[in-house]
This record gives sequence, C-alpha cells and structure tokens, in this order.
Amino acid sequence: MENTSLKGKCIVVGVTGGIAAYKICTLVSLLKKSGAEARVVMTENARRFVAPLTFETLSGNPVITDTFAEKPEWEVEHIALAKRADLVIVAPATANFIGKYANGIADDFLTTTILAMTCPVLVAPAMNTAMLNHTAVRANLNVLRGRGVHVVKPETGRLACGDEGEGRCPEPETLVQAIINCLNKAQLGDSGQWSAVSGQLNAQVKDKDDYDGKTVLITAGGTREDIDRVRYIGNYSSGKMGAALAEAAIKRGARVIYIYGAVNVMPRADNNCDLCCELIPVKSTVEMRDAVMKNLERADYIVMAAAPADYRVERPYDTKIKSESLTLKLIKNPDIAAEAGAKKGGRKLAIFAAETGDPVPAAVEKLNKKNADLCVANDVTREGAGFGTDTNIATFVFRDGRNEPLPMMTKRELADILLDRVHEK
Ligand SMILES: Cc1cc2nc3c(=O)[nH]c(=O)nc-3n(C[C@H](O)[C@H](O)[C@H](O)COP(=O)(O)O)c2cc1C
Repeated sequence: MENTSLKGKCIVVGVTGGIAAYKICTLVSLLKKSGAEARVVMTENARRFVAPLTFETLSGNPVITDTFAEKPEWEVEHIALAKRADLVIVAPATANFIGKYANGIADDFLTTTILAMTCPVLVAPAMNTAMLNHTAVRANLNVLRGRGVHVVKPETGRLACGDEGEGRCPEPETLVQAIINCLNKAQLGDSGQWSAVSGQLNAQVKDKDDYDGKTVLITAGGTREDIDRVRYIGNYSSGKMGAALAEAAIKRGARVIYIYGAVNVMPRADNNCDLCCELIPVKSTVEMRDAVMKNLERADYIVMAAAPADYRVERPYDTKIKSESLTLKLIKNPDIAAEAGAKKGGRKLAIFAAETGDPVPAAVEKLNKKNADLCVANDVTREGAGFGTDTNIATFVFRDGRNEPLPMMTKRELADILLDRVHEK
C-alpha cells in the first residue's frame, strides 16, 4: 500500500552482519510498496547472511558494498548517495558497526557514506543481550544519541542464540513506522508538535524499567464527526492526558501504540524514546475504533484517554451547507472501550470517566459495562481538572469496588500513578 509520507523519499538502508539481516528483506519490500526509493548498502559481512541479489531484486536498485568498485553509479558514490538520501536506517546494526560509527571510523562504504550524511539517521541495534548491555556498546549508543542519531529500541524476546532478553531487531513494520515518525519529525522541525530537545539528548535515562518489553496502547484527544465538507462536531479534549501517559510509559521501557484524534499537544519526543511510539492518527470515532481493534492484540495494556464523540451525523453533507436552518440526525457511535473490553482477554484496560458532578457512580457503572480494570473518574467542572488543563483531580475506581481519591496533580504525575496501578493489579 502506498504511504504518502514515504512516497518519493530516498531511504538508504544499511545492512550489517547480524542474524536479523533477513528481516530487512521485508523492510525493503515494504519501503518499495510504500512508494519510496530504497537504496541498500551492505557491509562485507552482511553479504554472508543475505545475498545482495535478494536486495537488488526487492529494491530494484544495485546494492553497494565496495567503496572502490570499478564502475560506480555516481562519480564519488558515497557522497552522491549521502546527498540524495532523505533518511538512512542501519538495520540490523551490529555492535561492530555501532562502535565504528560512534568513533568516526570509515573503513567501508557504509561507514564512509554515513559520515557524509546530513539527513536523519536511524540505527536499529540487534544483538545478544550481553553484547547490548556491554558498557562499550551502551556508551557508543549514548555517543550516537548525543549526536542526534535516532536509536530504535531493540525488542525483548527469544534471540537467535537461544537466550531470552533484549536485543531482537524490531519487526519490519515497526521499522517502517520508525522511519515515518522520524521523517515527520524532521519535517515538523523544532517549531512542530514534536519537540526534540537537544539539551536533553545525553541525559535521557529510563525512569524505571517495569514496562520493559511491554506494549501500551493509548488513545488520546477528541474525535471529529463531519457535518459537511467544512464543519464537524468535536469536543474540548486536548490530548494532554494521553501525551502524558505515552511519555510516562516510554520512560518506563514500554513501546507505545498512540492512536490520536484532534489534539493540541503530542507526546514530547526525545532521541531516546520517540521511536518507541507508533503514531496512528485518526479523525472520527469509527476510525478510532477500527485502529484500536486492529492493534489490540499487540498490546499488553490499553489506556483509553481519548474523548471519542458519542454521536455522529447520520448523513454528512457532501458540500458546504448554506441553508438558513439546519436539522441534523445524530446516530450513536460505537463504544470503543466496551468493544475493547469484550476482546481484551488477559490485557489490562484503563478507562476515563469525565463527568460533571460526582464522577464515582458513573465510573463504577462504566467500569462494569466496559469490562475495564480501572476507571479514572474526574469532575471536569472542578478547577484544575478536566480538558485542556495541565493538572487533574481524579479518583481511581477499581473492579473490586475500591476507590483511591487523589489530590490535584499534574497529568504526568497522574499518568505514572495510573501505570503503577494497572501494573500492580
Ligand atoms: C551467525 C552469526 C550471527 C551474528 N549475529 C550478530 C548480531 O546479531 N549482532 C551483532 O552485533 N553481531 C553479530 N555477529 C557478529 C558480526 O557478524 C561481526 O561482529 C562482524 O564483524 C560484523 O561486521 P559488520 O558490522 O561490518 O557487518 C554474528 C556473527 C555470526 C557468525
């Protein structure tokens, strides 16, 4: 399927000598299908894992390995490719490559060309857990982060060597999403929704690691329902709570699937965590429901912080309405939390109840109706609570009937307590 954010982009794919090199065949194929131009550069050792012919066939372009090849496609090939690239991703990135890149060594085509790159660079380390945790590899990755290189978080699971742990190369679809996120962020620049705060690059450390290897699906913002071509029904949700949840979850080691509607803010990205956040924009409640249901199985935790419109216009107008008066017939939208609750299996589901007046009775009812594990109840009429504010005053309502009233706190603080509670249960 063609993807507008990748169409026409020149993506250089660096492949190094790791066992996960086979996954990159699918990555190249997905990039090609998305309308991107994929240019594969392999190290000598990568050629022992996958034949260059495979990449040549999938990308439709020659594969480059040798800086001193006799018939270069461009005159000074490594410079030409560096100038042409919109983004480079090195996946899998071996410990060897990471060490060379961090130290400015340029002894083959990949390491030479990457030093000439001015475009965004993504590196997806993949290796045995002990190698990944080695001080030298960690230090090299930190050096790269500090220079603005985006490091894709390796996945946790069974490794090729038979060990269990962190170090797996993410799936090709995840890498494509990381590329899209990175390109979007580069386009938005510093004034965009994504703020890459360079002063924080080296200081990025996890707050905790209790969500390591876990995936948290978060919904955020309000949805919009078309009235006609230019008007919609919406609500005051700002997306601040969802963004705070995503930031907190990522800082605790989670991978986040972020399904968001109309928002004023996005999770703050930094080089250590932005690529752990898979962004799925939606417009209407039906679109949000479809995205949630499609991604539910990949999640360990589901947190529904969005405010989806409960009703939609039965027949939105195709053109701009100009009549003196207007009567709209609204029909009920799907109940996303209830549908997710019915299919959640062993996953934990947290929902929000934004009410006017005492929110607890409504929260208890919602909790049961939607088969949720925790409901965050808040009275949006109280000062310091509700839509658009940086703080909230909430009561957690649990399935066993317990309540936990909380004082006013920032949405980020509330996000961390919510993650504590759903993790504990
Ligand atoms: C079967 C096999 C699998 C390997 N898998 C990895 C790996 O997943 N990650 C890694 O960093 N090195 C791995 N290595 C070691 C690298 O291939 C080796 O460090 C090599 O020098 C990397 O060269 P390159 O970075 O130039 O491609 C593996 C080696 C072998 C023989």
